[in-house]
Amino acid sequence: MTDTPLPTIMTMTPFNPEFQKDPHSVLKPLRERCPVMHDETSGSFIISKFSDVRAIATDLTLWRDPLRADPSAVMQRRFSDAVIEGVPRSETSSILTLDNPDHARVRGPLAQALYARVAKIRPQVEAIVDLALDRMAAKSSFDLMDEFCVPIPIDVIAVILGVDHARLVEFRDWSEGIIQALNPFRNEDQTRHMERANQALTDYFRAAIRERRDNPQDDLISDMTQLQAQGVPLSDEELRINLAALLVGGNLTTTDLIGNGVRLLMLHPEELSKLRADPGLINNAVEEILRYEPPIDMTSRIASKDMEVGGCPIRATQSMTLSLRGANRDPEAFPDPDRFDVSRKRAAHMAFGGGAHICIGAPLARLEAQVAIPRLLERFPNLRLADPSADAVWRTLPFFRGLQRLDLAV
Ligand code: HEM
Repeated sequence: MTDTPLPTIMTMTPFNPEFQKDPHSVLKPLRERCPVMHDETSGSFIISKFSDVRAIATDLTLWRDPLRADPSAVMQRRFSDAVIEGVPRSETSSILTLDNPDHARVRGPLAQALYARVAKIRPQVEAIVDLALDRMAAKSSFDLMDEFCVPIPIDVIAVILGVDHARLVEFRDWSEGIIQALNPFRNEDQTRHMERANQALTDYFRAAIRERRDNPQDDLISDMTQLQAQGVPLSDEELRINLAALLVGGNLTTTDLIGNGVRLLMLHPEELSKLRADPGLINNAVEEILRYEPPIDMTSRIASKDMEVGGCPIRATQSMTLSLRGANRDPEAFPDPDRFDVSRKRAAHMAFGGGAHICIGAPLARLEAQVAIPRLLERFPNLRLADPSADAVWRTLPFFRGLQRLDLAV
């Protein structure tokens, strides 16, 4: 079958029904035949072996800012934030696409404050999860995405940011709109929703930063304004753009972690029984869900020098797209990689990327899944797919894998 054409980036999106049904029908042959493949459409090398993906993600000398990429790297350059003359890059671009020294300067204090918040937020996550479960309690069936997986991460980040309860509905709408920033193929309606949400969040965060500076509360924005007051070099605009990045990076991904995880457990009754019999397996199970069905397909880096990956020369400024999903099913890293096994010996997966840019929200996403999944299973001891013969309904946002609906019966 070696004369079958190699895939292109477009065949690794929901536009390809085969990929949407089973991404590994595309990724497995790619990893076996051409683990470092130059893709003309995106102008990027697609890298799919675990060892290469990990080595590149953790190489601190590589770049992330799309503006440093060769103009032929069209897909990566579409992710670049607007350049505004006279405004520092760190005020138009979040840590997601910032390079050092700005990346470390901005990420350091944000991570310090976020991790301290996450360390004490468990009781509130439990309360938010229980409230969602209470709303579902009277029903005999429900769409888990709508009732549980979508609202929980938004409500949790709203607590972390100290969003006023009265503004939660607006905040949810903005959170959903701003995610379109991650969709390179967004249509006009989606672009308008994103722009509206972006403006509303900009106004909201600017006001909140000013307000918390004068009147600190028990929330992340106040933590950050206090760090600024202690001399941490971080401008209000840098803070604002990175608060928005927590929403862009954090909501949909955590929604999908919970949704994909519950679906996998419903599809693998023996794994579900193992977890029900030994709830202590939950942390392990969440790592296996992240490995087996990661919410994000890819991340990227830019070569800062001429280099070689898997014997393939890559020139400085060329773009590299790392297939996290492909790496997570590499048999050289994970024995029997296509088996979903909640008791699999815990092995490092690539779902959160790696190195300096490793997901800053990973501890929060893990916590939410570790609380939400067991409480859902406990509340509904007979939880099952409403129609086991129905095909999964996946969302169509490229490079993300998550369900549009997950209809369950209790
Ligand atoms: C299961 C849920 C999540 C997944 C799968 C995920 C995945 C990722 C990945 C793959 C990256 C890129 C890492 C790299 O390039 O090496 C990333 C970065 C990032 N994530 Fe997450 N994420 C999740 C949840 C969250 C949450 C809850 C937040 C916020 C509270 C968040 C905020 C961010 C931010 C701000 C970055 C940029 C970090 C940087 O470049 O320094 N993510 N995430």
